[in-house]
Parts: sequence; structure tokens; C-alpha cells
Amino acid sequence: MSEEIRLDGRVAIVTGAGGGLGRAHALALAARGAAVVVNDLGAARDGAGSSDSPARLVVAEIESAGGRAVADASDIATPEGAQALAGAALSAFGRIDALVNNAGFLRDKSLAKMEPLDFEAVLRVHLTGSALMSRAVWPAMQEQGDGRIVMTTSAAGLYGNFGQSNYGAAKLGVIGLMNTLKLEGARHGIRVNAIAPVAATRMTEGTVPPEIVASTPPGLVSPAVILLCAQQCPVNGAIVVAGGGYFALARMVETEGIALAPADVTPEAVAQLIPRISDFTRAQGHDDALSALRVAVDAITSRE
Ligand SMILES: NC(=O)c1ccc[n+]([C@@H]2O[C@H](COP(=O)([O-])OP(=O)(O)OC[C@H]3O[C@@H](n4cnc5c(N)ncnc54)[C@H](O)[C@@H]3O)[C@@H](O)[C@H]2O)c1
Repeated sequence: MSEEIRLDGRVAIVTGAGGGLGRAHALALAARGAAVVVNDLGAARDGAGSSDSPARLVVAEIESAGGRAVADASDIATPEGAQALAGAALSAFGRIDALVNNAGFLRDKSLAKMEPLDFEAVLRVHLTGSALMSRAVWPAMQEQGDGRIVMTTSAAGLYGNFGQSNYGAAKLGVIGLMNTLKLEGARHGIRVNAIAPVAATRMTEGTVPPEIVASTPPGLVSPAVILLCAQQCPVNGAIVVAGGGYFALARMVETEGIALAPADVTPEAVAQLIPRISDFTRAQGHDDALSALRVAVDAITSRE
């Protein structure tokens, strides 16, 4: 058996932790010893309205199990709300070791029927909110020389899902955010990763078959979040797929490319290349944009 992963003495913020996955993460982090700031705006499934009771109820659950937590009802999609939440963590517990960017809501419709405001609102809560929160906790983590940030992405962003152009764009956006923050955080001891969860919550109500609902309680995702929030976090820039006890890693990859001579570069030549460059058996991922560029430059400079 490997050593138990504990978060005693560590402080974690979980956004949108009044229900669903966030609540499960908050309970699990507290059970492993972390002091938790339970944030939730108390919004409806579409983001409308607010209430401070969901966050307070989760804090009561944590406290009755012997854990430490405080409630916060800030709107993480605004700069003021994000700063207020980071400030609440610092004044309650004096440090911030982990941030789980989990809050969000849906406004599903095919793009042609979607109001521009519904596109923007979903981007704001998932993507801008994750950036604002990461920025708000950054100085504390940088000063500590230690920090863990967990983004919440989705298969809808990684692979697409009908009716979710706003959500999918936001969820792939948080991967772009992670890809840069993993580089900017590395020299400060800050690791930034993502989970792509599958869980039966109010967000997935009515969209998931009953047999999947029964086998995907949110609590089966939280162990991955605990690992990514712990000192022992073994990865940086990883996308951990988690749900129902299933775990996998997802990543962006590029096939082995072919460099044409400049005089040969025509649309027809590209069309002819497609079958040859569609072979993913030797595809590889890249740690950053420069590494990807280097591979292309090598191919260009070594072409016959
Ligand atoms: N359930 C799944 O299968 C699944 C799959 C992929 C991704 N996700 C993602 O997981 C996260 C949690 O989703 P869930 O399924 O638990 O849904 P949920 O609706 O139960 O939880 C989302 C919570 O975020 C809160 N919230 C919304 N806007 C907020 C804001 N501006 N500030 C603070 N809190 C806010 C809501 O009040 C709600 O409690 C979301 O980011 C979601 O996109 C879920």
C-alpha cells in the first residue's frame, strides 16, 4: 500500500461547491485534513439567481464530520468576487494551497439559435472565472513557493457536443489557460492540472441514461482532485478523465508531419498529403508551443 495522501495544514478553495461535484470535492478535501473555503453563488442550473445557503449547508456538513470550513457566496465570474473569495480564504486560514475551479452553468442551444449574451455568460463563468480565480490566488501561492490549481474541463470541450458551443469553447479554453499557467507556475512550485469529470449531478440531469447516473456519483471523481491538490501531486499540465471509477489521461497530439518545398505548396498538394499525415500511430504531444515549433522547423530544415 502506498502512503496515505493527507492535506493536513493545507487550505483549499473549491468554487461552486454548494452541490454536485464541488460539494463532493469539498467534503473529500476536508476529510483528508484540508481547511476548505466552500464557495457557491447559489445559482440555478442556467446561472440565474443567488443564495448563500448551498455553501453554508456544505460547511455545516464538513463541520459535523469534524472538519474545518468557511462559506463564501462570491460570484467568481467577476474580478471583485474572485478577489473577495481569495481574501476570505486568507483571512480565515492565512494561506491558499489549492484552488479547484469548478463553478459553472449551462445555456445549451445550437449556435444559430443562441443569444450572444448566453455565449458570453457561459464563457465568463467557466473560462474567465477560472482565470480570475487563478490570478487572485497566484500571489499567495507564489509567496509560499507552493500551490495547486485544478481546472474543470469536459468531454464537450475536448471533443464537442451538440448544442454546447459556448460550453465547449469555455471548457477547451480552460485547457489553454492551464497550458500557459503550468509554465508560468513551474518556477514558483505551482502545478496546474485539469479534470474532465463524468458525474450524475443536476447539470447532467435528463441527459444521462439512468444506468450511468447510478454508476457515476460525484464522489468517485474527488479522489483525483485530492491527488492534484496534494503536495504529492505527480503531474503538471495533465488532463485527468475521471468518472465512475474510470481514470484516463487526455492530451493534444500532432501526427508526424511532412514538409513540402515552398514551390510545391498548393491546395492540391495539401489534399494529397492528408492521408499520409492522418496516421496517428506515431503522433506526439508537446510540452509547450516552442517544442511544437521546433519539430516543424526540424522537418522544414531537413526536407530534401
Ligand atoms: N457533471 C458532469 O458530468 C460534468 C461533466 C463535465 C464537466 N463538468 C463540470 O463540473 C463542474 C461542476 O458541475 P456539476 O455537474 O457539479 O454542476 P452543478 O450545477 O451541480 O454545480 C455547479 C455549481 O456552480 C455554482 N455556480 C454557478 N455560477 C457560479 C458563480 N458565478 N460563482 C460561484 N458559483 C457558481 C452553482 O451554484 C452550482 O452549485 C462544472 O464546471 C461543470 O461544467 C461536469
